Amino acid sequence: MFESVSLSGKGSVQALVVGIFNDKELDAATAELDTRFGGVISAALKRSECSGDAGKICEAYPTLPARGERPERILILGLGKRDGFAESALRNAAASVGRRVAGNKEQRIAIELHRQLESAKIDLELAGRCFGEGLGLVAWSMDDFKGTGSEPAKRTPLFVRTSSKAFERGVERGFGLAESTNLARDVSQTPPNIATTDFIADQARKLAKKTGLSCRIWQGAELEKEKFIGLINVGKASENKPCMIRLEYQPKKAKKGVKPIVLVGKTMTYDTGGLSLKINNGMVGMKRDKDGGCAVLGAMHAVASYLKPDRPVVALLACAENSISDEAYRPDDVITFRNGVTVEITNTDAEGRLVLADALCWACEKENPECIIDLATLTGGVVTALGSTFAGLWCENDALRAKLEQAMKTSGERWWRLPHDQEYRDMMKSPIADILNSNPNRKAHPIQGEAFLSYFVKPEIPWSHIDIAGVHAVEGDTGPFCKGPTGWGVRLLADFIMQK
Ligand code: BES
Ligand code: MN
Ligand code: ZN
Repeated sequence: MFESVSLSGKGSVQALVVGIFNDKELDAATAELDTRFGGVISAALKRSECSGDAGKICEAYPTLPARGERPERILILGLGKRDGFAESALRNAAASVGRRVAGNKEQRIAIELHRQLESAKIDLELAGRCFGEGLGLVAWSMDDFKGTGSEPAKRTPLFVRTSSKAFERGVERGFGLAESTNLARDVSQTPPNIATTDFIADQARKLAKKTGLSCRIWQGAELEKEKFIGLINVGKASENKPCMIRLEYQPKKAKKGVKPIVLVGKTMTYDTGGLSLKINNGMVGMKRDKDGGCAVLGAMHAVASYLKPDRPVVALLACAENSISDEAYRPDDVITFRNGVTVEITNTDAEGRLVLADALCWACEKENPECIIDLATLTGGVVTALGSTFAGLWCENDALRAKLEQAMKTSGERWWRLPHDQEYRDMMKSPIADILNSNPNRKAHPIQGEAFLSYFVKPEIPWSHIDIAGVHAVEGDTGPFCKGPTGWGVRLLADFIMQK
């Protein structure tokens, strides 16, 4: 939508954005703007369509001052109900503003919402952050694959200013978080013939070089050496060879004895289902089976470029393409993991848990983690259960879960807890090996996924599994998103990492 979004105090603006709750009560500060520009705001508020409903925008055209600086247009943004207003509502409100401003072809806008927000005792910095996120997210588009068959899109930069320092600080943070999320969306959107396993490895290397992260990649014989058996098997049939990618952030001044947070991402560059081939149209969209890894990459971008926490963070991207050939792993194979657990393959389409198992084993054994959080587009079942509203989350550690809950509140990336139980673990038992990768009885699919993964995490290590299959993409305009990837998880992880 926009070439870029940034803060800039310079020059005059074309549009001024003010806010109004649906009680239509003008606060003193907005009333003063109203007077300065000829009373056009209060006049507009008398019109019936100017309701103050959340996200509704009404335009007014200043008549004063006759000479001197005045915006061409005032956008009166509806904030909805004053009582119970939550800062998070500003993500969607900002998206409405972004779409309108793009339609009006404006490039310089002033946001003066804080005047009305102050009258409702809102945290202005958080409000600014949410607004900045919304604007940064709605700005995203991906034209890289448009060719000579399309008119070139004309995109202009958008410059934003605000007279509130607190709101401005928030907007700056929001723009940053949106940028990191948009990086995840760029990689997600890239088609599977281009976003191969090597491409993902390159993205990680580039990010590391740019931001000072360290990066290590295991491929080929190195995978054998480290017994990354899930990656080796799942990736066998593809000409694009699997790899394990590790990124590490080390703070300049680390507190003594602080253990790293470990983030794990399922990064399947394409999921055909393997020999248990996906049927009908089940395969379309499976380029996005890398979105767990994309979110982790985006979170590391945030960590290294501006969050800069005072604790170490490690990312592991288990990266492969689940394809078919005469070399493919098959249903009935039995494989032995790094931690000694043997797995009978019953379905090659339950591949995500196999590559995640490698990363979880490694993290428990080698990283001395404070906690582990894995993100994965793991099951269709979680889409059936929770749709695109909540991700499915499992976490048996109360302290870790409380922090993830706090991060859900500030980031607006919502999850719902699903159960972990020995009965589900028992469902995964195999007659020939220790466990199978999918129980053919079709019961509790998303929970089976977590039950399987739990065999690869040491019980004393706090761990959370997040199934993002329902939330990693949307089918049409939804809040600040357009059809395509949402980068779900980048902002949740960022907020989680920054907690004390
Ligand atoms: N990548 C899919 C899950 C998925 C489905 C992601 C829809 C996004 C949208 C995963 O690898 C898969 O195929 N899961 C199977 C598991 C089954 C074979 C146990 C599923 O959910 O059907
Ligand atoms: Mn699959
Ligand atoms: Zn998959």
